[in-house]
Amino acid sequence: MSRRGFLALGAAVTAAATLPGCSALGSRGAIDTVGRVDFRNRLRIPPLAEADRRGGTTEFALAAQAGRSAIVAGGEADTWGLNGALLGPTLRARRGETVRITLTNHLDEATTLHWHGMHLPAAADGGPHQMVEPGATWSPSWRVDQPAATLWYHPHPHGQTERHVYRGLGGLFIVDDDHEAALDLPRTYGVDDIPVIVQDKTFDSTGQLIETARHDNGMVGDTILVNGTAGPVFEVGARRTRLRLLNASTARSYNFGLGDGRPVTMIASDGGLLSEPLSLQRVLLTPGERAEVVVELEPGQEVTLRSYPQDLGLTDARARNSGAADELDVLLLRAAARLAPSPEVPARLAVVDRLDESAVAVTRTFELRNNRINDEEMDLGRVDDVVTVDTTEVWEVWNGHRQPHNFHVHDVQFQVLSVDGRPPPPELSGWKDTVYLPPEVRFRLIMRFTEHTDPAMPYMYHCHLLWHEDQGMMGQFVVVEPGGRPADIGGGHGH
Ligand code: C2O
Ligand code: CU
Repeated sequence: MSRRGFLALGAAVTAAATLPGCSALGSRGAIDTVGRVDFRNRLRIPPLAEADRRGGTTEFALAAQAGRSAIVAGGEADTWGLNGALLGPTLRARRGETVRITLTNHLDEATTLHWHGMHLPAAADGGPHQMVEPGATWSPSWRVDQPAATLWYHPHPHGQTERHVYRGLGGLFIVDDDHEAALDLPRTYGVDDIPVIVQDKTFDSTGQLIETARHDNGMVGDTILVNGTAGPVFEVGARRTRLRLLNASTARSYNFGLGDGRPVTMIASDGGLLSEPLSLQRVLLTPGERAEVVVELEPGQEVTLRSYPQDLGLTDARARNSGAADELDVLLLRAAARLAPSPEVPARLAVVDRLDESAVAVTRTFELRNNRINDEEMDLGRVDDVVTVDTTEVWEVWNGHRQPHNFHVHDVQFQVLSVDGRPPPPELSGWKDTVYLPPEVRFRLIMRFTEHTDPAMPYMYHCHLLWHEDQGMMGQFVVVEPGGRPADIGGGHGH
């Protein structure tokens, strides 16, 4: 990887950081890197994790480790990765397969790995109760049983999640199924089906990754990486390319769009395919959210994936502080002179069965404010909610705060019933596990809890701005048999 060439970006960022508009309150100015990113590094494609299927179980091995990565000009950064120095391989499993992942922690501090978006037993979830000490191994196993989707994995140690993700731990977990496999969609990994893991970081002049001040929402970095590559270029070889977009940033949101104004075709949200493709100018992803989009290019064309300023429902100063006013070049797509043909995106993608609102057993309300949910700070020893298995619930969620928050629920994929009483926009009409909550807007989410009861092991729900989560904007629920009660879960890390 070239280390030169980022000087230009560094200069742009430095100049932007001193733009007028930085007030005495420490608010940051908006930055604009459009046309200023030197796209000269080939986009790194995370390798597919090797799977051992000999025993009837699909086995993956992941080793959390420290390493050094040459990411920007000036030198190397101390980073963390799985089976490498930065990020981790892409795990891939088919619906119906039983997987077992053996995680070995070679770091000098305890961490966890959580399978974000996965339906699985709470003891396999990799939340803050499944800490893996240095030198220890953890081997969760479960049967994958949900529609094809782009999920991901990342650490979840309570109070340290932001730092562990920022250091570089994380990766994609792609679920396949027969239905999706039968559709005419780009599906050759690394060729016309590309992971796009987007993160913002800050580096010093020696190329070292640095933690910056947190302010309200955590760290907002000035250097955008895709799959750990700064200034990334992807050489497009087919007429249509599927991008599996993941916002793996700790705090920043992205409003993705193409630099020449052409639309993208969105085909999937967090939990799988939409019922039909959507032509969109912009795709807003807040931390933790995913979208699959198909981009169409002519031979020889170049187009930049950008993040545009976004309306998060914030005041101007808060929008600037959150990075929502920034305009950022993210990834250059450069089409070859000859492109392999690709079929048109099918007009119908999936049947997204609507969860039945008339069958709702319980409605719960969650207010996110001041790094609390319903005025409570996360307590590992307290079960906040008890859910009965095989029931459907509505969770009414709202952000009663002027800061940006989103809401993520473990174990389930939900559907958005309404946004302030109105039907959700089409991009929120499919399966979701994380949703942005603009201030003072009420979201009604419907979800169904099935199997995997465990009165002694909770799942989490929380804001996925990881600094907020770490500060306590998280709660816990257990799924029990009818009439069941939660067990005492203790206050520790539940080794
Ligand atoms: Cu992606 Cu509880 O997290
Ligand atoms: Cu938040």
